[in-house]
Amino acid sequence: MTGPDFAKMQAAAAALEYVEDGMIVGLGTGSTANHFISMLGERVREGLSIGAIPTSEASRRLAASLGIALIEVDQADRIDVTVDGADEVDQYLNLLKGGGGALLREKIIAHATDHLVVIADKSKLVKDLGAFPLPVEVTSFGFTITAKKVFDALRATGCTSADIKLREAGAPGRPFITDNGNYILDCACRHIPDAAATANALNTIPGVVENGIFLAFPRTVRTVLLGHEDGVDMVEV
Ligand code: 5RP
Repeated sequence: MTGPDFAKMQAAAAALEYVEDGMIVGLGTGSTANHFISMLGERVREGLSIGAIPTSEASRRLAASLGIALIEVDQADRIDVTVDGADEVDQYLNLLKGGGGALLREKIIAHATDHLVVIADKSKLVKDLGAFPLPVEVTSFGFTITAKKVFDALRATGCTSADIKLREAGAPGRPFITDNGNYILDCACRHIPDAAATANALNTIPGVVENGIFLAFPRTVRTVLLGHEDGVDMVEV
């Protein structure tokens, strides 16, 4: 096997090294996280004992089907390690996430985690965030008003081209609904020159539930594992 899927599997396999017996493990969402969950399922069948907290209903279903023991999120006040994918990783290891629509739960879990291990194929590494459209989770109530405020916030923080689309699910005109019952605005910015300013401005807007920029979290070690044809590169802050 070659190509991005092989690279994702390489990164997922490397992340297994960070999981130890007895840990509480956050499970990310997306195709790379799915590789990790499948590999973790094999380890569990071999005797590894962990409790897992999934970041989406899809990851919950996959983990449960593999016999991974699940913990209700409100039964834990911290998480040892979370393994999750990303749509982009910048030079400071800021992340752009939410391509799979799970950004809110992913951010809550990542923020409560001692060690966040990000797994991706190497093509996700960028100088600055923004080539991938930035997902912003918003309430369905007033989403058109909120979208206008999001546009203003993006422009005010230097995103000179901001094209905002309501994410659809399958059919035109049918909004994608997150696991939390909200909508997603996909904001094509091309370039986000100041990720911190944009993330902070977005989260002051009533109606914005969360945005997909994952800046550094104060007490979380962040390791990024980038898979490629010849192995895995590791970067850490
Ligand atoms: C889901 C995410 C995913 O981690 C991100 O979209 C990467 O997905 P993939 O591993 O399929 O490339 O943030 O909300």
